[in-house]
Amino acid sequence: MACLMESSVPLQSYKEAAEWILAHTDQRPRIAVICGSGLGTLAETLENKTVIPYEDIPHFPSSTVPGHAGRLVFGLLNGKQCVCMQGRFHIYEGYSMSTVAFPVRVFSLLGVDTLIVTNAAGGINSNYSVGDIMFIKDHINMPGFCGQNPLRGPNEDGFGVRFPCMSDAYDQHLRHLAMDCTQELGLQDIVQEGIYCMLGGPSYETIAECNMLKLLGVDAVGMSTVPEVITGRHCRMHILGISLITNMAILSYNSTAHANHQEVLQTSQLRAAALIALLTNLVGKM
Ligand SMILES: *[C@@H]1O[C@H](CO)[C@@H](O)[C@H](O)[C@H]1NC(C)=O
Ligand SMILES: *[C@@H]1O[C@H](CO)[C@@H](O)[C@H](O)[C@H]1NC(C)=O
Ligand SMILES: *[C@@H]1O[C@H](CO)[C@@H](O)[C@H](O)[C@H]1NC(C)=O
Repeated sequence: MACLMESSVPLQSYKEAAEWILAHTDQRPRIAVICGSGLGTLAETLENKTVIPYEDIPHFPSSTVPGHAGRLVFGLLNGKQCVCMQGRFHIYEGYSMSTVAFPVRVFSLLGVDTLIVTNAAGGINSNYSVGDIMFIKDHINMPGFCGQNPLRGPNEDGFGVRFPCMSDAYDQHLRHLAMDCTQELGLQDIVQEGIYCMLGGPSYETIAECNMLKLLGVDAVGMSTVPEVITGRHCRMHILGISLITNMAILSYNSTAHANHQEVLQTSQLRAAALIALLTNLVGKM
């Protein structure tokens, strides 16, 4: 049973982290962006940056994955104050779901009410291609089926209710706004809308697992995002989730392809400019 125990983070830790940040920047963003694998370059485009390494912030976890820096970048994106997480946390690093989502509650205390979450994902839907941008319309919390949830443990009523609704986890209005942006930018041919499934990782999926996910109606699979979305929705944030399809899941035993992190990073670099243009345009409309 010990492996299922979620050690919930004390309320005081969120407060101390938020107070420390408020004392180290004058910026008061209402929009936070969590940058997925290889998408951290968005943060470089902010104007009037304040950069805060995670290790400077009391109680903040630290990122252990290549391709993920570890810092908060505050600044202006298309004239709007934003905070970007350059580097996120994953349960495969050994963190609990509540630790993975720690920054989201800190953002909430800073006054953030809109959360944009990006990730690199494997395409399960056979209509998808590598390089597609998928707006997440719903998710499946696969670790949740065996008790892993960032809200496990005593509820913090100050953040939200004990049993939060998740049927509206991904904000329709934001998604439509983002769709409009892709039209304006001429990206409509690479845009999809679908269901993201989180698995624990760090090993990639087996062929049998990919086929199972396909049967379940999953469009893309990855190892992140769900903890932050559940936590953000719990504290009533509006959420936009974007998956970049960096590789296609292997569904046939005849395939000679092999999933690897290099391919993920290469596709991210290929689409970084398009994603930055999309988010810049979108934030301007918010
Ligand atoms: C950006 O920083 C410069 C220099 O500190 C300042 O003059 C300018 O007003 C800032 N711009 C905005 C939009 O805050
Ligand atoms: C793929 O696209 C076709 C044509 O739009 C559609 O009929 C089919 O349902 C799609 N397949 C999946 C798995 O979404
Ligand atoms: C796999 O290869 C075998 C033998 O070449 C072929 O009969 C079979 O149809 C292939 N299966 C798929 C799913 O492509």
